[in-house]
Amino acid sequence: MVGNVGEGALLSAVANIKAITPPDIRSRKGGTPLVCLTAYTTPIAKLVDRHCDIVLVGDSVGMVLHGLPSTLGVTLEMMIMHGQAVRRGLEQALMIVDMPFGSYEESPEQAFRNAARVMAQTGCAAVKLEGGEAMAETIRFLAARGVPVMGHVGLTPQAVNTFGGYRVQGRGGDAERVGADALAVSEAGAFAVVLEKVPEVLARRITAEVAIPTIGIGASAACDGQILVVDDMLGIFGDFRPKFVKRYAELGEIAEAAIAAYAQDVRDRRFPAAEHLFGDAPGTVNGGEGA
Ligand code: KIV
Repeated sequence: MVGNVGEGALLSAVANIKAITPPDIRSRKGGTPLVCLTAYTTPIAKLVDRHCDIVLVGDSVGMVLHGLPSTLGVTLEMMIMHGQAVRRGLEQALMIVDMPFGSYEESPEQAFRNAARVMAQTGCAAVKLEGGEAMAETIRFLAARGVPVMGHVGLTPQAVNTFGGYRVQGRGGDAERVGADALAVSEAGAFAVVLEKVPEVLARRITAEVAIPTIGIGASAACDGQILVVDDMLGIFGDFRPKFVKRYAELGEIAEAAIAAYAQDVRDRRFPAAEHLFGDAPGTVNGGEGA
């Protein structure tokens, strides 16, 4: 029993015939670059929907919203809860949910069981999982059973302990390994692949070699599309700032200034002011407004 997606999510998924699909994304190889962002909540999903081809409910949610030190502590339940929130905010973009660490690596069967639960309970149309050659069999198993998969190679954050940090992957002699990973994912039936933190020359070569769109993050404009963590590009997440992030706003600073202004107003009794007050009864002084 995998449970059911909420009625609202199911209706929007079924009724929205214009929603972008995994085959649509696959067919965009070599075309206008694909625009992708993460989202974890309904309000952000509503903001990004009409600007993006793909909205990823990334397991980065663990670090960005829950303050975890890495993505390793993210659970399937967290991904499902955030997936359901994002689903309520999307009409057009393809929604993909990340499979968290430990939910798919054991066997293709484990991956299918958990991916089916994620799809049923969130209404997403695809999942993403990390890993190259080692995950090829699993990707083939899922793709053959109705689970579209986006791959993720290069720096795969769930393997941070194996890599010894969030290091650039595929430099020098390591390029062959990352290239073989991308090819394996593509040949196994993934419809797109994220390339994270690899040198431009390698990203260009992989993009030319694989049949599916490459989505870069720290992998240059040679890729078929780009993805960023939305809180990074909006300047909300400030714990660290990867070199590959371009900040399009400093919303964290704006929010802090607003919070400081509110705190000062409260301490000075400037808030609430007359326009925020309720009167005793309509028609009396200060009482023109209803409930
Ligand atoms: O978890 C995530 O947000 C991701 C993207 C940054 C690719 O995997």
